[in-house]
Amino acid sequence: MQAHYPRQRALSPPDRGSSPAAADILQRSYQTLFTALEQVFGQEAQGLQWLQEACLALPGQDNAASLLEAICHYAAQLSGASVVTFEPSAKVCSGDRLPPLIYDAEADRAFLSAGPTPPGLAAQIRERRSALSFSLAGRVGALGTLKLYPPKPGGFPAGRQPLLQPFIALASLALQNVVLVHQARRSQERMQGLSRQLLEAQETERRHIARELHDEVGQNLTAIKISLQTMERYLEGGRLEAPIAESIAIVDGLLKQVQALTVGLRPPVLDDLGLVAALRWYLERRVRAPGLRARLSVWPHALRLPPESETACFRIAQEALTNILRHAEASRVAVLLRRRGREALLIVHDNGKGFDVGAGQAAALQGMSLGLLTMEERARLAGGRLEIRSEPGKGTMVCALLPARARRPSG
Ligand SMILES: Nc1ncnc2c1ncn2[C@@H]1O[C@H](COP(=O)(O)OP(=O)(O)OP(=O)(O)O)[C@@H](O)[C@H]1O
Ligand SMILES: [Mg+2]
Repeated sequence: MQAHYPRQRALSPPDRGSSPAAADILQRSYQTLFTALEQVFGQEAQGLQWLQEACLALPGQDNAASLLEAICHYAAQLSGASVVTFEPSAKVCSGDRLPPLIYDAEADRAFLSAGPTPPGLAAQIRERRSALSFSLAGRVGALGTLKLYPPKPGGFPAGRQPLLQPFIALASLALQNVVLVHQARRSQERMQGLSRQLLEAQETERRHIARELHDEVGQNLTAIKISLQTMERYLEGGRLEAPIAESIAIVDGLLKQVQALTVGLRPPVLDDLGLVAALRWYLERRVRAPGLRARLSVWPHALRLPPESETACFRIAQEALTNILRHAEASRVAVLLRRRGREALLIVHDNGKGFDVGAGQAAALQGMSLGLLTMEERARLAGGRLEIRSEPGKGTMVCALLPARARRPSG
């Protein structure tokens, strides 16, 4: 894109009518003046064009090294410098460091100065001490120092520097944005890592409590029940028969509760027989309501997924089915599980009263409920994604796509 800049049209050549000699001198003087103005305005017009290009190019960069290279490139063009260096501040917010860089304008190449500096450039920097130095800084604090080295000991070409100040402000802003985006990305990754660890710890804990309940509490209750039954046989017809029968009934009730708790915490079938068996078991045992028909369809029949995906898939289905029982007033529920290439697709579909998904999610974000958010979080942390489609009066469909192959551990 060309910069528009006023040219020297306001000046017109002198009237040739008076004295031809004087007119010639004047003509030559005007010519010289025109050329000088052309040079000055031409330089500035070119400078403005470079500044305009920099305005378009710098904000689009999201990688610190390539942004710094672009900054050095435009700084060299605007100033006429032959070498530009960037030295980062010791610490740019929360320990992130920008890379130091040396830019060779003639070759239009940047070298990360963590590696060896080409000897020619190092010599140029040593020779020319009269560098122009600019601090790049933003709201995040000092970002670094940009040094511009003139092409030869004589110095910078004249008239090339007036646009450097606005350029430095632009460069600082672009660099600050890259640092902020990088920091935001890092904290998001940290949050995701923490959430994943939390969910894993929760599953491990549930598995542990379920096992303890089953092995300790359940076994001991069974032992008490057997003792009570033995006492009952010895004391048949006596005054203690009724209280013992009552105690046996209480222990029976407790045993059922413990079993329900154990299974609710972490169905053993999920660990022992896998996702498909666990989904079948859950639909048969837990999705029961008058007038409700539930159907499960799986392809391939013996589908197995990586453990992380199986747990996520089961928990998502569990929440979607609980929501159906609690809110949907549906008469039909379908659960579909399919392998699709590298992914597994889970769909939980009901023909109930539906709801406004946007409003539901907004309410959940304000802390009114957990289910919708946990389903999404589980899918995302397992490396997949989740979508809920629903409209009042038109049923609800929860779709989750999860990895069907184990992910490589991230470094
Ligand atoms: N299948 C469904 N049919 C109709 N409404 C639903 C369905 N699933 C969710 N909803 C609506 O979305 C709301 C939010 O669901 P969410 O699972 O987040 O919360 P909850 O089930 O009310 O509580 P919890 O946090 O214990 O899960 C529900 O209160 C309900 O109004
Ligand atoms: Mg819920």
